[in-house]
Amino acid sequence: MTTATAAPKGLEGIVAAETEMSFIDGEKGVLEYVGIAIDDLARHSCFEEVVYLLWNLKLPTVTELDAFKAELRGRYALPHGMLERIKRLPKDAEPMHVLRTLVSALGMHDPDPNAIDPKAARHKALNILGHTPTLIAMFDRHRKGEEIVHPDTSLSFAGNFLYMLNGERPTETMERAFDACMILHADHGLNNSTFTARVVISTLSDMYSAMTAAIGALRGPLHGGANEGVMHLLNDIASPKDVPARIEGMLERKEKIMGFGHRVYKAYDPRATYLKTLAKQLAEDTGNSALYEKSSAIEKVMEAKVAAKGIYPNVDFYSATTYHSIGLDLDLFTPMFAMSRVSGWAGHVLEQLADNRLYRPKAAYIGPHGVAYTPIGER
Ligand code: CMC
Repeated sequence: MTTATAAPKGLEGIVAAETEMSFIDGEKGVLEYVGIAIDDLARHSCFEEVVYLLWNLKLPTVTELDAFKAELRGRYALPHGMLERIKRLPKDAEPMHVLRTLVSALGMHDPDPNAIDPKAARHKALNILGHTPTLIAMFDRHRKGEEIVHPDTSLSFAGNFLYMLNGERPTETMERAFDACMILHADHGLNNSTFTARVVISTLSDMYSAMTAAIGALRGPLHGGANEGVMHLLNDIASPKDVPARIEGMLERKEKIMGFGHRVYKAYDPRATYLKTLAKQLAEDTGNSALYEKSSAIEKVMEAKVAAKGIYPNVDFYSATTYHSIGLDLDLFTPMFAMSRVSGWAGHVLEQLADNRLYRPKAAYIGPHGVAYTPIGER
């Protein structure tokens, strides 16, 4: 009897799709979107421009960008009936569970939810991207018993989200910082949630199902949920002087330090490089220096203990401090990742549909054969 050999555990190193969107060199710590270094985009671009780039594989002209922004702003408002849904949600529900449920529910408000021809799929991608910040912000205000703030279409994706969340327009510095976070999280090769989205759409299911599944994958602590884990750890350490004993103890017990390590990067994650500078700046501006100092102390211990194994800070490590300084609640950190990554997931769904083949790998069966059936009364 022939037994299939299993691919490496966790599919490590397996190339399972082609993409033109993002390129990662894990040894050198390089991330590019359509060939452009992530650092250049974070410094000079805006999130809308990056989404245009990912979905069209070229930077937009001024006219194209203006048109794209207008299209996206036209999708900030939710379909009729969604706000009523949000108001019926339990106030103590976790935002990632809420987001997964609401993105799924959007499919019920779409008169043609299953259409996946290129035009329809793009239209739905834009809808979901435009609606996601509104879903999160409206739920946050609902759970806090605050008046719902409706979207302001004169504001950017980043600015409008902070406005809907806080009820006041963000400062330019906060809007710019948050926008950079959105850029940095937009796409990242065949990460787990993106793979999930591609697997789902490969059955020719629908955009809502692909996005909903991807949200579910993202929330795990080994993936996008790590940024909340980082914040829990930071909150749990009283002062930078307590860091060495705490982190060394965790490493000795073989516990994972959230925000460190990566399947692909064995060098410093370039997103973390940018976020580290941003986190420091924002922490100083907002009086959160103690938090930054604790982060920095953790990084020092990790550098001494595990950098030789290729374990460095990943995108989640300094995004925790950054989001805290922007004033976001801890349980909104992973939804922020999702809010941006919707653009990457949708782009990959479009790529998958353009050249689809059903994902259907095999499992190597490792159980027994030829076992005699025992009637239930004899077991
Ligand atoms: N803290 C301590 N040790 C670690 C860590 C960590 N964060 N990450 C990896 N290691 C060690 C691990 O214990 C193992 O050691 P040994 O060989 O002695 O048993 C070795 O490194 C390999 O670890 P692994 O878990 O087999 O590696 P992987 O490629 O399966 O895991 C990872 C990648 C991201 C799941 C892992 O590094 C991890 O769990 N990190 C913490 C969670 C985290 O920050 N996730 C966010 C990832 S980046 C954003 C995203 O894409 O979502």
